[in-house]
Amino acid sequence: MTDLRQALRATPAVREFTDEPVSRDTVAAILDTARFAPSGGNRQAWRVVLVEDPATKAALRDLYLPGWYDYLAMGAAGLVAWSPLADREQEAKAKEAAPEIAARAAAGPGGMAEHLERVPVLLAVFADLGSLAAVDRDLDRYTLVGGASVYPFVWSILLAAGEHGLGGVITTMLTAREAQVRDLLGAPASMALAAMVALGHPVRRPTKLRRRPVPEFATVDRVDGVPLEPR
Ligand SMILES: Cc1cc2nc3c(=O)[nH]c(=O)nc-3n(C[C@H](O)[C@H](O)[C@H](O)COP(=O)(O)O)c2cc1C
Repeated sequence: MTDLRQALRATPAVREFTDEPVSRDTVAAILDTARFAPSGGNRQAWRVVLVEDPATKAALRDLYLPGWYDYLAMGAAGLVAWSPLADREQEAKAKEAAPEIAARAAAGPGGMAEHLERVPVLLAVFADLGSLAAVDRDLDRYTLVGGASVYPFVWSILLAAGEHGLGGVITTMLTAREAQVRDLLGAPASMALAAMVALGHPVRRPTKLRRRPVPEFATVDRVDGVPLEPR
């Protein structure tokens, strides 16, 4: 298997990190590779903030947690959390369980969310809205295309981190608290928070990822066409 194939097929979401620090040089090297990602019109609308200040990291954790427990509550109720097509009433009902989930988490050891301030590298990735080619911006549906100019870059950060023995996860939970995050990090209103990327040395690195097989999501000629079978 080529290195690229291996990286594409086996780069997991890593949320448990050792205490080993990651240098600014390493982060800069990762971004130096990720910057070759494509973007609409090659506008490279991404803007990255490496968050090192402990008080800022703790503030980000506090902003992250309410959304995280809402997410878990919606998942526990069998919902696709924050689907643009979701029934908002059903969602609100599901979220009533969030405080209980939060209390249980507070009584336990906690995971990445509860200890976000300990994540070795936190990268806030903003999108400069003025530089996005969002061709669906005027359609009468949820807009999607603008993000496509930033998320390939975000994914390239994770792929490039693997070369340095690092793992991580793309998180978007904080975007629900975007205004507060912008205030914390000094971002203007023209910048949208695309992701907070967590990176560090993985405690463990799963290599077998669960993904749907090709015929389950690809068809020929039409959406209701015959499934595309890999040869
Ligand atoms: C756009 C996007 C948003 C995500 N948001 C979060 C998040 O807020 N918090 C989190 O812990 N993981 C988040 N993830 C990680 C996904 O849960 C993870 O990629 C998925 O479950 C697959 O995990 P695996 O590669 O380990 O199988 C996000 C991933 C993507 C691509």
